[in-house]
Amino acid sequence: MSADDRRLQAANPTGWFEDLYAEAAAGTASVPWDQPHPQPHLVEWADGVDGTGRSALVVGCGYGRDSEFLASLGFDVVAFDISPTGIATVQARYPDSKVTYVVADLLDPPAEWHHAFDLVVENMTVQALPVDLHAKATERVAWLTGSELLVLAVARDEGPVPDGPPWPLTPSEIQAFATDGLTSRSTRRDNGRWVAEFVR
Ligand SMILES: C[S@@+](CC[C@H](N)C(=O)[O-])C[C@H]1O[C@@H](n2cnc3c(N)ncnc32)[C@H](O)[C@@H]1O
Repeated sequence: MSADDRRLQAANPTGWFEDLYAEAAAGTASVPWDQPHPQPHLVEWADGVDGTGRSALVVGCGYGRDSEFLASLGFDVVAFDISPTGIATVQARYPDSKVTYVVADLLDPPAEWHHAFDLVVENMTVQALPVDLHAKATERVAWLTGSELLVLAVARDEGPVPDGPPWPLTPSEIQAFATDGLTSRSTRRDNGRWVAEFVR
């Protein structure tokens, strides 16, 4: 990504996602996180998990790789993204999906989602926002969580803010998810990524 691209993205911290998904839909760009498989740490976490009778919310769901996986485990899944084109694309990709896909902003989520989901999965959304939005976004993720939260993110050490996006999460930024009644169940750093679980 060029320095000019980064400057444009920093100036429009949530709007550039829609631009990127629209360009991808037009065939003029590719989306770097468009992977054909669920996040491997989510797959590892899900070993032996049966989601039957449980609700799940996927934050910043992108093209739906994690939401479709959770639905395959039996969870009743809602997945949201700020990009209308992203959501339209994922709905076209999975026309028979059991997932409810919604356009919504993590920084201003629907009021009825407060503590509404048994499981919340946050995979690389907070890190896609500039560091000055991390605290608010993190607090919103906790606000959405009914009982269990899984945070997956690229890790960095404390220190100078990188020239993102992305802006990987520091140890203190990971521990900041333990708010609004959530406590840390486990945190590990594996291959440069955080796998962190919180419970209410
Ligand atoms: C790095 S991508 C990760 C996508 C997906 N979680 C994955 O792992 O494939 C970040 C996603 O968060 C979405 N996003 C960014 N800001 C958001 C916000 N404020 N509310 C909801 N979604 C947001 C973007 O549109 C993008 O799809």
